[in-house]
Amino acid sequence: MSIRSQRKEDHLALAGQFYKTNKPNSFDQMHLLRPALPETKVKLEQLTTVMFGKKVAAPFFINAMTGGADKAYAINQAFGKIAAKTQIALALGSASILTKEPKALTSFLVAREEDPTGVVIANLNAKTKADSAQKIVRALEADALQIHLNSVQEIAMPEGERDFTWLTNLQDLRQKLTIPIIIKEVGFGLDPTTIRLLKSEGFTLFDIAGSGGTNFAQIENARNERDLSYLEDLGLPTVLATILAKNEQVEVIVSGGVRQPLDVFKGLALGGKYIGVANVFLQALEQKGANFLLQMIKNWQEELAYLLALYGISDLKQITKLKKYYDEPLYSWLQQFKQKNSFK
Ligand code: FNR
Repeated sequence: MSIRSQRKEDHLALAGQFYKTNKPNSFDQMHLLRPALPETKVKLEQLTTVMFGKKVAAPFFINAMTGGADKAYAINQAFGKIAAKTQIALALGSASILTKEPKALTSFLVAREEDPTGVVIANLNAKTKADSAQKIVRALEADALQIHLNSVQEIAMPEGERDFTWLTNLQDLRQKLTIPIIIKEVGFGLDPTTIRLLKSEGFTLFDIAGSGGTNFAQIENARNERDLSYLEDLGLPTVLATILAKNEQVEVIVSGGVRQPLDVFKGLALGGKYIGVANVFLQALEQKGANFLLQMIKNWQEELAYLLALYGISDLKQITKLKKYYDEPLYSWLQQFKQKNSFK
């Protein structure tokens, strides 16, 4: 097995090893005011939304995880089947491996074969050249492309990248690709300065992928002889990252630590256009099987409709109007950004 596919196998195993159900995170420090008289009815149709020109049954999706490893084929096959059945979008794991190991394509392609008409999102690293990106996007018939910015993860990897001068290639990708591009972190959060810079380069959609869920410093540390465990605390919490990103007037995908439908609901209330869920879905699949994950996603759809009704929302577009209030430390962090960075 190549070093790259071995790494992907390790990630899959370690994501399970470090997974904790309902680990507290920044979503717990955020609350929404609920009307005791909501004047609503539970309606699943209210969740329907459009993603990259296609109708999806709900605004949450399976975020980027795998491809290229032996185990990845079966996982992407199951994700593809489930995404098709539940009509939600599916982002595949990084396909950068294909520039070195083209044979790995089948482990990605299987998801598109299982979900021929749904939303499938490709994922690449920031140094993939535009012509390779173009080929991969075409091969997967991808509806959008995520480009991940993962400097902390790379530093935590002994064999990782040490050159983070990615901007020129990002500019090139932006100019040459016509497909929608999502700039994405992998669990340490996109900061507002990066978003502002990339917005000025023409990027409009950002998956903030904040901290509070999967922690790649922890995962990589388990594969590393050196102890770099202090990197585990570098992340920007998801709720904070989302509020800061929304302040930059860009479209935001909320992800990182989404554990249950209430977190999806809170992400939408913060102005997230879509909500990404990674390890919770992967662990459901790995530990309990495809039927369990299928039912779980159906339940999430139903429960999200319950929450909309409970909070008096009959049109998804109205959800950002809900009154929000915050616990410490989230509240004091927000105050500091307001004072120091003329945060509106
Ligand atoms: C990931 N993630 C990820 N992200 C990315 O952009 N490209 C990738 O190839 C991968 N690979 C990957 C593998 C595994 C096993 C996991 C669990 C995660 C990161 C993922 O998309 C997401 O940003 C983070 O996991 C945070 O979300 P959760 O897991 O807290 O919901």
